[in-house]
Amino acid sequence: MIADVPLFPESASHLSEQTDNLFWFLFGVSAFISVLIFLLIAVFAIKYHRRAPNEIGAPISGSLKLEIAWTVIPFVIAMIMFAWGARLFFNMAHPPPQAMQIFVVAKQWMWKAQHPEGRIEINELHVPVNRDVMLTMTSQDVIHDLFIPAFRIKADVLPNRYTSMWFRASKPGRYHLFCAEYCGTNHALMGGWVTVMEPADFEDWLSRGERGRSMVESGAVLFQNYKCANCHVEDGSGHAPSLMGVYGAPVRLTTGQTITADDAYLRESILNPRAKIVAGYRPEMPSFQRILNEEQVLQLIAYIKTMSAGKPLQTTGSELSNPAR
Ligand code: CUA
Repeated sequence: MIADVPLFPESASHLSEQTDNLFWFLFGVSAFISVLIFLLIAVFAIKYHRRAPNEIGAPISGSLKLEIAWTVIPFVIAMIMFAWGARLFFNMAHPPPQAMQIFVVAKQWMWKAQHPEGRIEINELHVPVNRDVMLTMTSQDVIHDLFIPAFRIKADVLPNRYTSMWFRASKPGRYHLFCAEYCGTNHALMGGWVTVMEPADFEDWLSRGERGRSMVESGAVLFQNYKCANCHVEDGSGHAPSLMGVYGAPVRLTTGQTITADDAYLRESILNPRAKIVAGYRPEMPSFQRILNEEQVLQLIAYIKTMSAGKPLQTTGSELSNPAR
């Protein structure tokens, strides 16, 4: 059984080769220095061992050249490690702006992925090959951690916060995904598969299956069902600020502080509306904490984002009579 476990996970993303190269560099330097130290200990122990009971060692006092060498060389090596690691880290931390978006909600004990087009999958994640994919993740309960070894990426997934990571899968196939943070009884079972497909197959997959509403459409239905527009009037004449163009824009608060309306701010304002009040408005909005789940909050945010374009998506009457999913 043990023989079946590969020494290294497969390498299947733009990052995996770079991460492995850095790993092998660190491993090589560590191995070289360890071997050098133990070899020298052995060699010196033999070469300079005491030959007579009354033998005394030669007095040796410092060597500037030697001291400079053993300070400068390790310093340079350490700075190479730092610069290399930092470059990789910044690359991992900055998703390309045009990356495809997928939304992940973790809960005890499953991974739920939501594609903007509407498909929802559990413990599975389908993505196209050679395309930048960004995951926006949150947890409905405790801290989880999404780990895809073949892509060499891993990030904590926290309640009450959005975290993200991105990748570009480099070859089609099926790769394990894991929860890498102990999260309770079935933590060990909280895993699944990433399926990397050719772009055409992916488009096909996306359009197949029982297709629900897109995230934006679901968000629009929630927006209508909860009568958000009664207060958030488009022209700004309502009890609450207009949401037109709010996404990504600066918002002035009653505290005098100005913040950017990003995903995290919108989420907080839906679930805990009194945390940050827009200047000129009163804290009147009720909390949707126990009413909306994390998937629905993501859908609402997706819809609010479209309002930034200046024209919110219009829903038809028949869709509005359906309860929100
Ligand atoms: Cu989720 Cu461990």
